[in-house]
Amino acid sequence: KILILDFGSQVTQLIARRVREAQVYCEIHPCDVSDAFVREFAPKGIILSGSHGSTYEDHELRAPQAVWDLGVPVLGICYGMQTMAAQLGGKVEWSDHREFGYAEVRARGHTRLFDGIQDFSTAEGHGMLKVWMSHGDKVTDMPPGFKLMASTPSCAIAGMADEARGYYAVQFHPEVTHTVQGRAMLTRFVREICGCRGDWVMGDYIAEAVQSIRAQVGDEEVILGLSGGVDSSVAAALIHRAIGDHLTCVFVDHGLLRLNEGDLVMDMFAGKLHAKVIRVDASELFLGQLAGVTDPEKKRKIIGGLFVDVFKAEAAKLKGDGAKGAKWLAQGTIYPDVIESGGAKSKKAVTIKSHHNVGGLPEQLGLKLLEPLRELFKDEVRELGVALGLPPDMVYRHPFPGPGLGVRILGEVKKEYADLLRRADAIFIEELRSTLDPDSGKSWYELTSQAFTVFLPVKSVGVMGDGRTYDYVVALRAVQTSDFMTADWAELPYALLKKVSSRIINEVRGINRVTYDVSSKPPATIEWE
Ligand code: XMP
Repeated sequence: KILILDFGSQVTQLIARRVREAQVYCEIHPCDVSDAFVREFAPKGIILSGSHGSTYEDHELRAPQAVWDLGVPVLGICYGMQTMAAQLGGKVEWSDHREFGYAEVRARGHTRLFDGIQDFSTAEGHGMLKVWMSHGDKVTDMPPGFKLMASTPSCAIAGMADEARGYYAVQFHPEVTHTVQGRAMLTRFVREICGCRGDWVMGDYIAEAVQSIRAQVGDEEVILGLSGGVDSSVAAALIHRAIGDHLTCVFVDHGLLRLNEGDLVMDMFAGKLHAKVIRVDASELFLGQLAGVTDPEKKRKIIGGLFVDVFKAEAAKLKGDGAKGAKWLAQGTIYPDVIESGGAKSKKAVTIKSHHNVGGLPEQLGLKLLEPLRELFKDEVRELGVALGLPPDMVYRHPFPGPGLGVRILGEVKKEYADLLRRADAIFIEELRSTLDPDSGKSWYELTSQAFTVFLPVKSVGVMGDGRTYDYVVALRAVQTSDFMTADWAELPYALLKKVSSRIINEVRGINRVTYDVSSKPPATIEWE
């Protein structure tokens, strides 16, 4: 196993992710763990992470001495390279000016880390690597025993190695995808240089996670808000695997879910997994409070607020006063949520849409927080879900917003509208799932990142048989995106659109017109409200 020592970089988790992708087990621990801890961990290799951009005092941060005494390979990344240089007798020149960005690095000498790995070679035959670099503080003298491994015009020592001891260091970030060969380098380090076997799989993660959940909560009771979404579902399945009936899931049905969704969630968790699930049917409460409200932000606030109220009331019951009451609130927080809520960026950004947010709940309820997915990325969460036995159809579903159909019915939300929308949307999704693209062999559901139907509360004239109709309109929305910050509308085949349109108009009485949304984000957003 690999030990990753975290010096506070924003992207330390990405190192862990790349190591896991190389099928090697790793753990992240703070850089100030004790020497005894490092020895007991008994890693086959150690990676020293970068550190956050500007803080000066960080230069006090050092790797524990045991890192150098263990005799295992060590890879220093960015700040990790600098501390390696400083601790082993080299020289680092600090500066308060840092620059991040794309760079082309020339590989120097022949090292095992870079052997056979390059993006292109120059006319003179030098191997070149396209990397994500962080300049600023620089190693200006290598420690004794080290040789130059990489350089750029502005950073003479961009990489160094002492191969006899298995020490490697790079000033750039191999863990980010902008460093094209980064994955290959990290795989090379952990598999070949450290000699880890590469037989770790998600199933092993389950065993580890189960152990650590048990160690954390003991025999105390845990509550989890189940939404039917991927993250809370996987968290529920994992915690249930660990502590069985000590977990109680609370599923708040706000009446704005997709067709049969509530039943499917209950069937899966209560039926198949035999988990304790309390279904709170709050649809009348939600629809009642939403009556007459047309402003999107008001609607979001009402839904978010009620959701928290209903959940809190249930949690309070479960918490009770006695020793048997719940002590923990579990959440399906995943790593990108952690970055998003911690990042300074989000504070400065204007509110385009207020997202469903249950942050702060554990404190209000006086419960401890359990977040077993905190270190995982979305695709890892999905893989974990499948390994836990959740159906792939559920785990690989498109994201669904917390306020549900509440933001897909424009203007006032009414039960009548929600019922029409649910049926139209189910038809659209069914056709996306069953229509394959001949080139890729994938379904259009897989080829799109998010697809859904929007209800427009306007009526238009149509003709059906011999009669005139005057019915509602829906819009189909299908987008492709990698990060949901920007998105393109999907070029769905006309034949598919034609079939969906004709099925909706024929099967859903009350809708006589279907349109397709051809707006990108920006300037439009993915959801209509
Ligand atoms: P927009 O519409 O802002 O959506 O382009 C970007 C992504 O966020 C989802 N979304 C939400 N998810 N609670 C959520 O959990 C919300 O309130 C919410 N609003 C939008 C949206 O479905 C898309 O995937």
